[in-house]
Amino acid sequence: MRHDQLPAWQALREQSWHYQGAFDLRRAFAKQPGRFEAFRVEAPHVVADLSKNLWDGPVLDALCALADTLQLPQKRAALLAGEVVNPTEGRPALHACVRGRWAEAPDGPADPWTDGLRDMLALAEAVRADPEIDHVVHLGIGGSGLGPELAVQALAAGHGARQRLHFVANVDGHELQEVLSGLPPQRTLFVVASKSWSTAETLQNARTAQAWMQAAGVPQPERHFVAISAKAERARAMGMGRVLHMPDGVGGRFSLWSAVGLPVAVALGAAGFAELLAGAVEMDRHFATAPLRHNLPVCLGLLDVWNSTFLGMSSRCVAPYHHGLRRLPAYLQQLEMESNGKGVCLQARPLPYTTTAAVWGEPGSNGQHAFFQWLHQGTQRVPTEFTVVRQPRHALPGHHEALLANAFGQAQALMQGGMASGAQLPGHQDFPGNRPSTMLLLDALTPRSLGALLAMHEHRVFVASVVWGINCFDQWGVELGKTLALDLQARMRRQDWVGLDASTAGLMQWAAQARTPVGAPGVPA
Ligand code: F6P
Repeated sequence: MRHDQLPAWQALREQSWHYQGAFDLRRAFAKQPGRFEAFRVEAPHVVADLSKNLWDGPVLDALCALADTLQLPQKRAALLAGEVVNPTEGRPALHACVRGRWAEAPDGPADPWTDGLRDMLALAEAVRADPEIDHVVHLGIGGSGLGPELAVQALAAGHGARQRLHFVANVDGHELQEVLSGLPPQRTLFVVASKSWSTAETLQNARTAQAWMQAAGVPQPERHFVAISAKAERARAMGMGRVLHMPDGVGGRFSLWSAVGLPVAVALGAAGFAELLAGAVEMDRHFATAPLRHNLPVCLGLLDVWNSTFLGMSSRCVAPYHHGLRRLPAYLQQLEMESNGKGVCLQARPLPYTTTAAVWGEPGSNGQHAFFQWLHQGTQRVPTEFTVVRQPRHALPGHHEALLANAFGQAQALMQGGMASGAQLPGHQDFPGNRPSTMLLLDALTPRSLGALLAMHEHRVFVASVVWGINCFDQWGVELGKTLALDLQARMRRQDWVGLDASTAGLMQWAAQARTPVGAPGVPA
């Protein structure tokens, strides 16, 4: 049966009209003095305040009942047991299995799920100890770049890595050129991460890096390249000196916990990376065992369904109030929108209801000087998800209290509304309030707490996908653009636009007038 035809779904649809209209957070807090406690959900290393969302106990209970009707516990068990949960690719989704299996036996025995991880940790230690490597350049895009970049930015400070870490994702040569200019080739190691070893951007960057290394006359250039892939033979054929394996069953956007995490292990050391894995495993255990109503990934996944599908809020603002989490919005964009940006059910029938909202955002307090005006007084109401960390890693007086006060103050203003003090312009200076937000609280930003936070987000995505009845582990929607781009790139070289639609032909002709012909050969200086 279609999920939206279930009585539990239809009851929620009926209830939702009230929460889209008359429901008022200020009245809800007045009526329920214990609302903050009632919507506080604790998980390992993360506490969530869900009280400022447009729901109440009966709604959350009804959402949990719907999830139960849709067999979330059984589907969760299948995911965590490594069963095939990605039917269109006939694969399991092994991210939790890999870290769980590793946690049980970090030193072996040989295991296809964890061998690549063990090899990666050994290599990371060797790189950290190698006096001849000063720079590590990670080439990877999407899940092969976002997770490592986020984790390195969040955690590298204070973990004693001697090497400088650089990340390049875009095929835009400006990014690679910016990184390469001034780097000493003979003291640089490239990590080329591509699960499929068919992503044009990453392979283009890798080929240019190889040309750069050869142009510098570095002996044995292949020794300066480590590949991470599920297609080892393709990587070797391209001249990679070493290849680390990642299991086919680990999805790209879920691959931080595999050998793709190499730059993180170089930054943190094997022990630090083990902490990252341990935090994620603690969250996995919480997700596997906590009752649905007190299960943080479950509550967040159900909240995502409630906000998007039932309340019609088409996006969610992600506002991490910590500089180390500045890439969290981009990471969650891929994790959520590539996982649940689907319009057909598992049986390939078009869905009559909305699935995932768009995810966007910037670190706080920057966003307060960019889009919080829209959040407070715009005509569209969307939820804001704050992430705050109680303990700073700096000792600069006054900064952290200001940061936390801003996060809490913004959430308070979104909910309470009203007029700014001294306001003279009714209407212009009115804040409607009743605008929802979630507060995710970490005591400190450590490998363990980051591991738990990211595992929590992975599982919330899965929970929402179960309710929506979609496959969160495939991404067929990215294939067409890749194919068309390859055709246009070949046409660009031939200056051939015959048969193209008028717009694309016009754009190609515009590009062809570039002074430096697009695609001119050259290696960064
Ligand atoms: O965006 C499409 C995608 O396949 C992502 O799912 C993946 O993380 C990224 O491209 C990179 O893929 P690969 O690791 O195979 O280069």
